[in-house]
Amino acid sequence: MQNHPLTSKVREDFPILKREINGYPLAFLDNAATTQKPQCVIDALVRFYENYNCNVSRGVYTLAEEATGIYEEGRKTVAKFIGAESCGNIIFTRGTTESINLVASAWSQPNLKAGDRIIVTEMEHHSNLVPWQLAAQSSGVELIFCPITPEGRLDLEVLEELLTDSVKLLAVTAVSNVLGTANPIAKIVEKVHERDVPVLVDAAQAVARMPIDVSEWDCDFLAFSGHKVYGPTGIGVLYAKNERLDEMRPYQGGGGMIRQVGQQSSTWADVPQKFEAGTPPVAEVFGLMSALEYISNVGMLEIKKHEQDLMTHTLEKLQEFTDLELYGPADSTDRSGVLSFNLREVHPHDVAQVLDENGIAVRAGHHCTQILHERLGIAASVRMSFGLYNEVPEIDRLFSALEQVRKFFILP
Ligand SMILES: Cc1ncc(COP(=O)(O)O)c(C=O)c1O
Repeated sequence: MQNHPLTSKVREDFPILKREINGYPLAFLDNAATTQKPQCVIDALVRFYENYNCNVSRGVYTLAEEATGIYEEGRKTVAKFIGAESCGNIIFTRGTTESINLVASAWSQPNLKAGDRIIVTEMEHHSNLVPWQLAAQSSGVELIFCPITPEGRLDLEVLEELLTDSVKLLAVTAVSNVLGTANPIAKIVEKVHERDVPVLVDAAQAVARMPIDVSEWDCDFLAFSGHKVYGPTGIGVLYAKNERLDEMRPYQGGGGMIRQVGQQSSTWADVPQKFEAGTPPVAEVFGLMSALEYISNVGMLEIKKHEQDLMTHTLEKLQEFTDLELYGPADSTDRSGVLSFNLREVHPHDVAQVLDENGIAVRAGHHCTQILHERLGIAASVRMSFGLYNEVPEIDRLFSALEQVRKFFILP
């Protein structure tokens, strides 16, 4: 396969890709954990602290107004990027995890009661599972699981059967951080809405891999992290529909989220500020804006196509090896740029260590999906995950390094 032209253009924008690890050029194939940052994002963070650093919404002087302007501009950029109706639907958090915890606390408490049910799926990251367990335990709600098929797709027939009157929410990932499966979110939401059940979409993996349009998906909530979309750490997004925002009570109390404070009780600021207590991550919002502008300029469809090309190449290569067990769909059509496998007889940590000795960064472990790993009958796996800067020779290097793994660990 020819290199997709995207990589040669963008690789120069990522300074860390010039690094060598253990004498080899860095092949960063752990983009599901976090993505590397283009120079424009790094520059944006420096530019903010050099020129605009100030707390927001609290000062009448120029610097404070400029910082507030940047922060609110960030909301507009995010709203546009995910197709939200208005920037009033965008709440800034610290990441996907906090966004989901926010809903599990601020929406669940006033809207769920003992005997209700929440559906999650067997492929959820712990961030889209444990917050619901906490919410369920405190209100007597039951968590039920939509299973996966043997190919690693959601079993949509069973999902329909699970949708009884007691179900009050579906929390589902758009892309599995282990199987790579890209779930048919619009179709799922349509089905679940027929029963008047709201849907929360965990877009942590999807956001950097495909165009997202919340109005097309029609989901009620959507969560993602800045650091997984080429932006800074410490910034995340929760999108919520207006009617859901109206159903939510405050998440954390503090400065910025109040209208009037009395000795015994207080009243709240309008949304979205009602859910943003304390000093927000202003520099991080500036960095996130830069990241979203950067990838929008590259083109989300181009990025999706690029990762799909890399996936097709990887799946073809995998067929040459009978000792590799692949998890998730075997074709690239409904697969995003994440792929997990095991090399028979070798512990995933040993595989990852030999790859690291070759300058290749992959992840080994349960990837915060113990339920899924249990379902697959394994304790851990090796995961490679693509970003817009990865290229075919890096994948080929990985397969060559697997030969070394075999020599070290597998008896002839
Ligand atoms: C599918 C999925 N959901 C949620 C998360 C949590 O993201 P964060 O740690 O940025 O909050 C991750 C992180 O890997 C993920 O892959």
